[in-house]
Amino acid sequence: AKPWTVPELRQAKRDGNKLVMLTCYDAGFARTMDAAGVDLVLVGDSLGMVVQGHDSTLPVSVDDIAYHTACVARGLSRALLIADLPFAADADPARALEASVALLRAGAGMVKLEGAGHKLEVIRYLVEREIPVCAHLGLTPQSVLRLGGYKVQGRDEAAAARLREDARAVEAAGASLLVLECVPTPVATAISGELEIPTVGIGAGPGCDGQVLVLHDMLGLNSGHRRPRFVKDFLAEGGSVAGACAAFADAVREGRFPDADHSYA
Ligand code: KIV
Ligand code: NA
Repeated sequence: AKPWTVPELRQAKRDGNKLVMLTCYDAGFARTMDAAGVDLVLVGDSLGMVVQGHDSTLPVSVDDIAYHTACVARGLSRALLIADLPFAADADPARALEASVALLRAGAGMVKLEGAGHKLEVIRYLVEREIPVCAHLGLTPQSVLRLGGYKVQGRDEAAAARLREDARAVEAAGASLLVLECVPTPVATAISGELEIPTVGIGAGPGCDGQVLVLHDMLGLNSGHRRPRFVKDFLAEGGSVAGACAAFADAVREGRFPDADHSYA
């Protein structure tokens, strides 16, 4: 199959084809998930937790993400590679541009950043300079100090309305994709219906246009933290790493994952 391009993402949504996304940090896993038909591969700043062993994503640097992005890029031939802008690298447009250029040079085809508000200006600035952007709303792990923990977002009516407004705003600012993390199913479903860009959910229910999981979580590795409700061990079902990736991809495309047990009503 030929490599994914950014304009094809919206077309996939129009065609009703669910997008399959996993996080990845090295070439070996990249090669395996690419061959298993994973569409989008994310070098997430979750690497601070699952690879480096920190208890948040805050210590991750641009150099860390760039190193892992270069490793992953060598393993991909078809999937679109997205790299996270780590904490504070997107604090202002000029810094975000410099960090994004480093990640694109390392092999990324898109960068991801958390939040709306003053980040809308950053999104516009990058997109105007030809850098595709994936937005990330709901539970934004870089906000852990303000939030006081990792909790479901958009639970009450006012918070849900703000989230819907932020989602429309990141699309208007030029984002090509939107990750929704830990959002009640009805809210994520409504947002997905309102936007033309695809939404990719993690703990956001089956109404999103795609799904993402952290690699270590879907392989059943114990993170040392309480396992969130939305995590499923696909290694148990798939029998091998390649089998786990294929089982995840099939379950997402057939609308079997996430089910109600792995979502927030
Ligand atoms: O860093 C990461 O792994 C992420 C995903 C959970 C979406 O941002
Ligand atoms: Na992230």
